[in-house]
Amino acid sequence: MTNKSTPLHVAIVMDGNGRWASKRFLPRIAGHKQGVDSLKRCARACDARGIKVLTVFAFSSENWQRPQEEVSGLMDLFALALGREVPQLKADGVQLRFIGERQGLSARVLKGIEQAEATTADNRKLVLNICFNYGGRWDVVQAAARVAAQGLAMTEQNLSQMMALAHVPDPDLVIRTGGEQRISNFLLWQSAYSEFFFSDTLWPDFDEVALDLAIQSYAKRERRYGKVSGQVDGASTPNESN
Ligand code: FPP
Repeated sequence: MTNKSTPLHVAIVMDGNGRWASKRFLPRIAGHKQGVDSLKRCARACDARGIKVLTVFAFSSENWQRPQEEVSGLMDLFALALGREVPQLKADGVQLRFIGERQGLSARVLKGIEQAEATTADNRKLVLNICFNYGGRWDVVQAAARVAAQGLAMTEQNLSQMMALAHVPDPDLVIRTGGEQRISNFLLWQSAYSEFFFSDTLWPDFDEVALDLAIQSYAKRERRYGKVSGQVDGASTPNESN
């Protein structure tokens, strides 16, 4: 059931896989594998709580700079997980969307992405946006380039329509796991009025209890969108919001 205290769109920086693995004397990729299971659990939990959109940061434009072994491990894991999980996601009503620069991805990963999107396109229960080879600055630049290429005016509305997440409303709640408190080039445009929640839990350990803590915190926030407390409609002076 959805109510005002349930966010419609939750976005997550899934951080802490490497530390989860290191604590267990395992290779970092073991943490990423566990991270895939955590993502499946989180998607189910979001659906059960009436959340309609989940957006996760799976691989950033900057993650290519990690050791080659970890990058290729992540690419293999990603291709494998797509092949393995898509039938169940389809059955569960999850629509998969991949957000990010596709140029430079391997043919195997690209094929997995295209098949996953095509197979789940008609699903409507939960939209799962996977940000992959994604950066918030990349998104602003590609949107601006598309606005310019179409000869449109460079307005907020036109830019918004060209952003990679134009198919969903902006995130209500942005969660970062793993204890760091920064945005790391995630959803720079779309999080303008999001509420933020920072969890010390490492991503592989992020379970229903941890998700509920974030949602409970969100439910207590007052979202003012630059207006004052209790104000219902129209501001008198434009361009003075904060
Ligand atoms: C950040 O933890 C996590 C990542 C860079 C990768 C996240 C990827 C997954 C959870 C797999 C997603 C898979 C699919 C199929 C969508 P980190 O490595 O920075 O951890 P650390 O801060 O502890 O080192």
